[in-house]
Amino acid sequence: MRQDGRQERAAEGLIADALSPAAGPSIRPADPSPAASRALCAAAGIGLRSPHVRKVRSERPPVRWFEVHSENYFADGGPALAALDDLRTDYPLSLHGVGMSLGSCDPLDRAHLAKLKRLADRIEPALVSEHLCWSGVGGRHFNDLLPLPYTEEALAHVTTRVGEVQDALGRELLVENVSSYLGFAEATVPEWEFVAELARRSGCRLLLDVNNIYVNAVNHGFGADRYLAAIPGDKVAEIHLAGFERSGPYLIDTHSAPVAPEVWALYARAIARFGPRPTLIEWDLDIPAFEVLAREAASAQAILDEPHVVAR
Ligand SMILES: [Fe+2]
Repeated sequence: MRQDGRQERAAEGLIADALSPAAGPSIRPADPSPAASRALCAAAGIGLRSPHVRKVRSERPPVRWFEVHSENYFADGGPALAALDDLRTDYPLSLHGVGMSLGSCDPLDRAHLAKLKRLADRIEPALVSEHLCWSGVGGRHFNDLLPLPYTEEALAHVTTRVGEVQDALGRELLVENVSSYLGFAEATVPEWEFVAELARRSGCRLLLDVNNIYVNAVNHGFGADRYLAAIPGDKVAEIHLAGFERSGPYLIDTHSAPVAPEVWALYARAIARFGPRPTLIEWDLDIPAFEVLAREAASAQAILDEPHVVAR
């Protein structure tokens, strides 16, 4: 489970975007299908957060692509959506959701799905992703991305849910592995097998968060390379990188620090195994200057640009 209240910040981002003087009026419709919004190459991008929207809109920095939190743009109009309409003319975009509660036993939130579909139809993102987690049950909602019990029952359940989401969206969904700080006594399937089997059964592809793999490997005491070895390469459509904080013997996935050296090393081994993949720098707490994020992206790009003989 996450400790940083990402959904709260998604809502804060909506407010901050709306207050951005550079955001401009919200009434013009999206331009039809700019090429930048339809293609995503295997390059390093940056998670665009509200403190940097104004700068990015005015300066158009040479970033290969941006990812945004879907829920920040669910409003029907408004400055935040206008900013996205503007940026999609120059940058490929990815929509990354934090609020679908994909693994919950509650019915899928059809209103949420409808808002996501409307946004995706408008923005035409290169990728749409969600987390392999649950965030609520019995109508109560939490600001955490909670891990599932890795059982056959849960796998069947979430496979069905992913299928329902893909049918509703009319497009492929990427599903992201989450960080966690506890496991369930009922678990019978290693996390890496659960993730790989979900992709095989549901037809989704994976957003592989390499930092989350490293965090979980330390917190739960397994080998991160064993995790990578279990993931089918043709299912990896995107990679996330972020920074963690240490708390005693545990690692907390705070997205508040540079990517750790151990995670860079694991990422390099992931790229050697899977080949170059679109890779995103996530930074959600104590967000630094844009130039810091650009340097992190450049470090990822340097690894992507190395000559690779993909391991089989
Ligand atoms: Fe991530």
